Amino acid sequence: MNNLFNSVKSWTRSVLLKVARNFKTYDYSKGPVIRESKSLFHREIKIPVFISFLFTIAVIYIMLIMGVGISSKVIVAAAIFTSAVIVFFIAQIQNREKVILGDNDAVVLMCMLFITSLLTFQIAKEYLSPFASPVSAFSIMAAMLLSSRLGGVYAVCLSLYAAFLNGMRFDVFLTMLGGAIFVVGNVHAIRKRSDFINVGVKTVIANMALLFMFYFVGNYDVSQFKYNLFYSVLNGIFSIVILLAFMPLFEKIFSRTTNIKLIELSDFNNSLLKRLMLEAPGTYHHSIMTADISEQSANVLGENSLLARIGSYYHDIGKLKNPLYFIENQTPGYNPHDNLNPEMSRLILISHVKEGVVLAKKYNVDNEIINIIEQHHGTTIMHAFYHRSLESGLHTEIENFRYPGPKPATKIAAIIMLADSCEAACRSIDEPTSARIKDMVEKIINNKFIDGQFSACPITLKDLELMKDSIISTIMSIYHARIEYK
Ligand SMILES: [Fe+2]
Ligand SMILES: [Fe+2]
Repeated sequence: MNNLFNSVKSWTRSVLLKVARNFKTYDYSKGPVIRESKSLFHREIKIPVFISFLFTIAVIYIMLIMGVGISSKVIVAAAIFTSAVIVFFIAQIQNREKVILGDNDAVVLMCMLFITSLLTFQIAKEYLSPFASPVSAFSIMAAMLLSSRLGGVYAVCLSLYAAFLNGMRFDVFLTMLGGAIFVVGNVHAIRKRSDFINVGVKTVIANMALLFMFYFVGNYDVSQFKYNLFYSVLNGIFSIVILLAFMPLFEKIFSRTTNIKLIELSDFNNSLLKRLMLEAPGTYHHSIMTADISEQSANVLGENSLLARIGSYYHDIGKLKNPLYFIENQTPGYNPHDNLNPEMSRLILISHVKEGVVLAKKYNVDNEIINIIEQHHGTTIMHAFYHRSLESGLHTEIENFRYPGPKPATKIAAIIMLADSCEAACRSIDEPTSARIKDMVEKIINNKFIDGQFSACPITLKDLELMKDSIISTIMSIYHARIEYK
C-alpha cells in the first residue's frame, strides 16, 4: 500500500514538474532549493499571474452558474456579475498591491481563497442557510496572509458572491459584509491562534446586530429571525474551525508570514534562537537590544513592529558559524582578527550574511525574515578592516570592502539596518552621555543616507527624522536604566 502511495506520489510530482517547466521555473543559479518545507508552489513551480487569474475567473463563473441553476438568463447574469466583481477587484489591487501582484505564490493564494470560499458558500446554501457562509473567515485569512487592505476588498467581493448565490439578497450581503469588516478592522490584534475565537465571537455579534436591524424593519417574521440567528451563531463557529484548519496550511504552503507565525518564531526555546543564546551570547544580547530599538522605530513609522522585533532577533544568526570573530562575543585582550590579514577578516565578516540566509532556510524561517538577514548591512563599507588594510600598506579599493548587499528593500529592513548599526556603535562609546549618543546616531543615519543605502526602499526624509528621534530616545532609555541599576 505504501509502495503504491509512493509511486503515485512520485509520478504526480514528475508530471507536475514537467508541466511547470513549460512555465517559469525556479532559477537554480541562485543556489540550491531547500525542499523540506513541502511547498509545492513555493520556490519550485511559478504559475504565471494571468493563468491563475483566468483559471479562477472561469471557476468562479461556473460555480456561480451551478450554484444558482443553469439557464440562459443565469449564464448572462453570472457573466455580468463576475465581470463587475472582477473590475472592482482589479481596480482595488492594480496600483496598491504591486508587491503582491509581483509574487506568483501570493497570486495563487489569492485565487485559492476565492475558490475555497465559494465552495463553502455553496455548501452553506445547499445544506444550511446563507447566513452560515463564512465570509469573515476568508476575509480575515486574506487580511492576514496577503494584506489588511485586501482583507477589506475580499469582504466586499465575498459578500457579493454570497448574495448572488442566494438570489441577490441584500440582507445576506449586508450581514456578511458587516461581520467581515468588523473582524478585518481588528486584524492587527490577532497574535495567537486562540485569538481566532474572538474572530468567531465578533462575527456572531455583528451578524446578530444586523439581523436584529432587518427584523425590526420587517424583513423577517419571528421564526425566520430565530432561524437566521441560529445560523449566524453557527457561522461564528465555522469561522473559528476554518481559520484553525486552513491558516497553518496556507501559511506553510505559500510561505506567508503572519503575526501568529512571528510570535511562534520569537519563542526562545526554538532551536535557532537557543543556539544563538548559548553559542554567541554577545550577539544574542546585541540582537535583543537591536529588537528594542527597531520595534520602537517601527511603531513610530506605523510599520509592523512585531516583524521589526523578530527580524532583529534573527538578523545576525549567521554569526553562529564563527562567533568569536565578532567583537560582541570576544573577551578583552583577544581578537582573532589580529592574526588574520584584512582580506580574510573581510571575507569572514561578509560570510555572516550568507551563513545567516543558509541557516534561516535550513531552519525553515520565513522569507520576510530571510530578506531582512540578507539586507541588514546593505552595501555598507567595513571601515575598520579597510583602514587596517591601508595601514598594512595594501593597495585596496574601498569598494572591495563593501558588503555584497542587497540594500534594504523595505522600511522594516532599513529600520533594522539603522537600529543594528546604532546599537553596535553606541555600545562602543566609553561614557554614553546623551550628547554622545545623539551625535553618534545622527552620524550613522547621515552616513548611510549619503552612501545611498536607502535608494531601494520607500523611506522618506521625514521617516529618517522620526527614526532618529526614536532611536536616540530608546538607546538613552537603555543606558539610563543601566546607570540607574548600577
Ligand atoms: Fe550583521
Ligand atoms: Fe547586528
